[in-house]
Amino acid sequence: MKGLILSGGKGTRLYPLTYTNAKQLIPVANKPVLVRVIESIRDAGVDEIGIVIGQTGPQIQELIGDGSKQGVKITYIPQLSPDGLAHAVKISRDFLGDDRFVMFLGDNVIQGGIGQLISDFAKSDWNSQIVLKEVENPTAYGVAKLRPDGSIEQLIEKPKNPPSNLALVGIYMFDPHIWEAVNSIKPSKRGELEITDAIQWLVDAGHRVFPHVHKGWWIDTGKPTDMLEANSLVLEELIPAVAAGVTVENSEIDRRVTVEKGAKIINSVVRGPTIIGENTVIENSYIGPFTSIYHDVRIQNCEIERSIVLENSSLADIGTRMQDSLVGRHATVRRTDSKPKSLKMNIGDHSNLWVV
Ligand code: TTP
Repeated sequence: MKGLILSGGKGTRLYPLTYTNAKQLIPVANKPVLVRVIESIRDAGVDEIGIVIGQTGPQIQELIGDGSKQGVKITYIPQLSPDGLAHAVKISRDFLGDDRFVMFLGDNVIQGGIGQLISDFAKSDWNSQIVLKEVENPTAYGVAKLRPDGSIEQLIEKPKNPPSNLALVGIYMFDPHIWEAVNSIKPSKRGELEITDAIQWLVDAGHRVFPHVHKGWWIDTGKPTDMLEANSLVLEELIPAVAAGVTVENSEIDRRVTVEKGAKIINSVVRGPTIIGENTVIENSYIGPFTSIYHDVRIQNCEIERSIVLENSSLADIGTRMQDSLVGRHATVRRTDSKPKSLKMNIGDHSNLWVV
């Protein structure tokens, strides 16, 4: 069995963070989502992995390299434009050959690993297995209609009258019949080769497509709110650890806090679940639950809760508690006493700022 991770795409819903940065590299609990995906596939016993990359490919290659750090062998598959998930599969033919494979969207985070799924599929004579999850608002998802024997009868994209509350999660398993499917389907109205159309093609051609209903949580980190939600869920499960040699002076840190090496926490209160990254300095501040501060960040005289702050940023004297926020890399947030007393902003395209 081989693995295929889709890490192309545009990431428009996460602008401006993804103008210059691959969305799959945004960290959740200080570990890029893509690294989490690679580890899930590796932990399920699959170590030959192809990664489909687009415009942000060079960053992904720089971070992941040949995969040896994660104990896997990575092959990069460039996709010239993001023409759909089934297109990404189509261009991966040389890498995948006639092996069965598991495909994982590079921006999805799932609880509990995929070992069981992979072994179920490996033991079965199914042609494809797709992962489904019960959701409260099926009209917002691709939804599956099942036959009485449990197999997939139909997949419907954002149905007005959903036949079930089972939504498609970004993990799929295929055997070589998928090649005929991706070569037979036509682009959808939005101009993409859709993976749902390819799976429907398999079903209509009489192939055996079965679901696995995932019981734990699953987050597609497409939007900022999803990013914060995924961060909270992963932080909740993180086993806290304080690295040797960190500086903690005159501060209160509860037992659900992870502090990475070289960090300094001075005159501050940190309540978990929270992670403070390498070489980050927190001074005279309160860092509340569900916050991830990445490496080389400086925070002074601030109160921050349920937020993600990326590397090399600096926040000082904000004056109001900051929460439910995403701060990009190399960003600066400051209070100023200069006159006239006004907001001064230098924010990127597609940024959102909520002023109180
Ligand atoms: P999406 O979230 O569907 O698309 P996107 O990344 O372009 O995001 P947005 O809608 O905000 O513009 O993609 C899911 C995953 O699949 C993501 O990791 C990117 C990847 N992908 C590809 O590798 N190739 C593609 O052609 C597409 C559409 C997505």
